[in-house]
Parts: sequence; structure tokens; C-alpha cells
Amino acid sequence: AAAIPGGVPSAAPAGGAPAVSKEVTVLFGSQTGKSQGLAKKMTAKLQQLGFQVTLASMGDFKPNNLKKVKNLLIVVSTHGEGDPPDNALSFHEFLHSKRAPQLEDLQFSVLALGDTSYEFFCKTGKDFDQRLEELGAKRLSPRIDCDVDFDESAAEWMNQVLASLSEATSAPAAVGGNISSVESGGESEFSRTNPFQAEVLENLNLNGRGSDRETRHVEISLEGSNLQYEPGDCLGIYAENHPRLVEELIQALAWNADELVAVNKNGDKLPLQEALLRNFEISVLTKPLLEQAAKLSPDKGLQELLAAGREQELKSYLSGRDLLDLVQDYSFKGVATQDFVSILRKMPARLYSIASSSKAFPDEVHVTVRTVRYESLGRERYGVCSVHLAERIAAGDKLPVYIQNNPNFKLPDNPETPVIMIGPGTGVAPFRAFLGEREETGATGSTWLFYGDQHFSTDFLYQVEWQKWLKNGVLTRMDVAFSRDTDQKVYVQHRMLEKSADLYKWLQEGAHIYVCGDEKKMAHDVHRALATIIEQEGGFSAEEAAEYLTRMQQQKRYQRDVY
Ligand code: 2AM
Repeated sequence: AAAIPGGVPSAAPAGGAPAVSKEVTVLFGSQTGKSQGLAKKMTAKLQQLGFQVTLASMGDFKPNNLKKVKNLLIVVSTHGEGDPPDNALSFHEFLHSKRAPQLEDLQFSVLALGDTSYEFFCKTGKDFDQRLEELGAKRLSPRIDCDVDFDESAAEWMNQVLASLSEATSAPAAVGGNISSVESGGESEFSRTNPFQAEVLENLNLNGRGSDRETRHVEISLEGSNLQYEPGDCLGIYAENHPRLVEELIQALAWNADELVAVNKNGDKLPLQEALLRNFEISVLTKPLLEQAAKLSPDKGLQELLAAGREQELKSYLSGRDLLDLVQDYSFKGVATQDFVSILRKMPARLYSIASSSKAFPDEVHVTVRTVRYESLGRERYGVCSVHLAERIAAGDKLPVYIQNNPNFKLPDNPETPVIMIGPGTGVAPFRAFLGEREETGATGSTWLFYGDQHFSTDFLYQVEWQKWLKNGVLTRMDVAFSRDTDQKVYVQHRMLEKSADLYKWLQEGAHIYVCGDEKKMAHDVHRALATIIEQEGGFSAEEAAEYLTRMQQQKRYQRDVY
């Protein structure tokens, strides 16, 4: 009964209690489903304590109702260059516009999700927090910013908010305890914090000989895990760092690979070499890490780099460097191994859009992973998970995995609704899941896939499968753009523009649009192409076309899984 999109709390409870303040609105802005999971968790806790909760996506919440809200909790993540998730865009814009009302009667608190390796860490959460204050609202408890490993911080925020609300409303004290994981994969006991050791069934390179690229198709068994997923969901994989990087790091610090080090707060210990392979992130530098390292290092240089006024230098130092660069550039002489290890971030899982339909492949999950290798500062650099999969994982090996549900990338409920899928490169992965699902369920709606990569002959991922689906009618249309087969680059958005009349017709007929893949360049350009098509074909102004797309996003007819 919690989800009343756009609604305001219903009738106040009878009795003498201060009815108003026992009403709480929980809004989330979520791209991959993590914030949504946490918001749900918070809702359940509040309800246990007798609060009346309205839980909604920011995209579904009617901003005009804001004036009626007394207690507002916001859980929101940040993307790319400090951008709000798609379903937070319109609410974010509204609050920052002149239309935003004064909110003196509002109490609020913000939980911000982010990643300290990005410059605009938790920016969207900070925006909401600051703006609500500007509008006169009062904080129930301070905003908490979470790094990728968010469990502890999120639990702390929940407890603080619950304590503050309980105090104000004389409700019973907050229920303690840890928040359990939010990545439910059905009723499975396995989750992000307790991954399933899954057997790898198959690991193939999809690219042909002579290609510049390597893309792994990895098939993984979920047998015995009870993990379940829908098309559009993601698989979280825990990888290992490159053994060469670990070795070089140990050498550079003249450490003993066998020394036992604590790997968590419980004090569980592992040999250093193993801990550096599996438990800690060593391939990314963040500002908080450098701040901690500066406290350890006898080298004044590191403190100087962190001094005020050198932000640009710091930013450029952080980008493309890893822990080995840090220990080569600055001295850590005399620093105890454990002290150093204790400042490292826990190894985060990598999320991949699932490329299979579980109806087509029961007890299996497939992912499509492009291998990331490049040279920088005189050294070969590796994408942690992709290179682990490419170099060190074969059929029969085990991988720790879990399911991350993504409610924001889902096939239409109605099997007759047409879908347009835009997925160049590995962005095509979830569409293999979509079509597999539509085939298995006998869905009759039309489907249209836009795909692109560099070369037709070597980079046409899953070519045989698309052809099979074109032949049996599961896939109605397919347009491809191979960018490096011709003098002039052609991308998926060029193909879309060529077919603009048809594409607009599909939209008018209620088609849903899905975009998956690179965020910064591709998804941005595809969005512009869609706006152009709507302008041209519908005879709309630029502003109206933008509104058309916003409306589609709000109606969940335009969904993106971009990274
Ligand atoms: P390129 O590598 O030749 O630039 C998958 O990576 C495909 O997406 C490749 O063909 C790549 O082309 C292409 N691509 C690169 N930038 C893009 C953009 N801004 N919009 C659409 N496709 C793009």
C-alpha cells in the first residue's frame, strides 16, 4: 500500500497523536535501482514504527503536492558528470526553478549515493539538500553521502532519520540492526553482500580475427542459487585485480606478500597478496584515498598536491592513475602494511546488463563484456573485471555474482506494445534478453533494433541471433551502422534520422524506446536525434519536442541503461 505515485498521504489517523508529523513521503531518484531499493527499505522501517508512508519515484511525484508534505526523505544517486538519474530530472529541475514554492513547514533529509572516484561526487543529493534549505525547509538529520560501498552509511542515515522522527512524534525508538541487502534476486539468500559462487559455463570472444576489439560472451550457471532476474536487470560480478599489478605494488613497497592483514572491520585476516587481489580496489585513485595517504606519507609532496588552489592539478593527477603510480610518485617509507591497507576502498562489484532471458536459458545468466586495455603513462592498464574475464576465467571456474534488479529498464507490460531498441556495441546486450523473452512468451508487438559497431565483418555481435529473429518475426526491423567501414562515420543516430518518418510513426503508435550503452557521447547524441525526429515529423518546436521526450520518460516509455 506504500506506493501511491504522485499521491499525498491519505486521511490522518484517528486519535489524539500529532497526526500530521507521522506522515512521511519517501522519494527516490534511481538509475540502476539501488536508491529505489534503499527507499523501499526505509519505507518498511517507517511503517514498522507506525508511520504513514508515501513512497514514489521522483518522476511519478507531482511537485504541486510538495506544499502538503511535512516530512520528506530523499534517496538519490548521481551519474556521469554530476547528473541526476532520468527519473529525477524533472523534479530536480522543478525544485531549482522559480516555480518552486517556499517550504518553511517541511522537514527533510537526503541520502546521496555516489562514487568518490568521480569529480562531482553525490552532486545530485547535494543539490537537493542545498535547495531544500534555500526554500526554507529544515533538516531532520544531516545529509549522508555514500561511496560505492553504501551499506554502512545508508544504515547510519536510516537510524539518524528514524531517531529524529521518533523523537519529534514520540513514536517508539528506532528499530536497530543492519539493513539487509536491497539487490533482491527473488527470494534468494544471495546478494551483493553475500554473492553466489557461480560456475562459468562458457567464455567466448565475439569479435572476429583482426578486430581492434575483444568482447566476451560469458555464460554463467545460477543453478542452486535461487537467483532470479528479468530482462533489463544487471549482473554484479566481483573480479580480481591483475596479478601483475599486485606483484608490482608489493615490490614497490618492499612488502611481504605473506603477511596477514585485516580485510574488514571484523578483523578477518588474509595474506597480503590475496587481500590485494580480491578485497581491495587498487586500480583507481580517489580524493579521500589521497587525503588518507597524505596522513601516512612522510612525503610533504602529497599534502601539497591536496592544498587549496590546486584542484585542477589534483583532478588531472587522479585521472588514469592507480595505486602503483601513487606509491612510485610519493614515499611511504616506514608506513606499516596494515595502516596502508586500511585506507583502501573495498573492491566494488562491476555491474553488467544481462544479455539473456531466463525463460530462454533457465538457471543461466549471460553477459557481454568488452575488454578494456590501454596504455597510459608508459604502462599497460587494464579494466579490472573485463580483463579478469578475458585472461583468467574459463569454463569451470567460479565467479562471485549477484542480481541487481533494475526497475527502470523493463519491457512494456503489454506484449503488443511495439519497442524500439538502440544499443551500439555492448549496449546491445539487454536487447538479446528482450528478444529472447519476447520469443519465449510469444509476444506479438513489433520490435526494431538499431545496432552499430566499428566493422561489419569482425564486430557484429550476435549477428546470427538477430538474423534468426528477423526470420522468425520476433525482430521486425533492424538497422545497423558500422562506423569504420566507410570514409564517413555512420552511427546509430544517423540511421534513426534516415528513418525518421517511420520512427515517429512508431512513437505515435505507442512504441517504447530503450537506449543502452555509452552515456556521455552516444546516449546524448541519440537523445538529440530523437528530439530532431519529433520536431521534424511532428511539426513541434524544440521546446515541445523536449517536453514530448520528458513526458515519454515520465510515462516510462523512454528508458535508458547508460554508463
Ligand atoms: P567509433 O568507435 O568508430 O567512433 C560501438 O562502440 C559503436 O559506437 C562504434 O561504432 C563507435 O564508433 C560508435 N560511437 C562512438 N561514438 C558515438 C556516438 N557519439 N554516437 C553513436 N555511436 C558512437
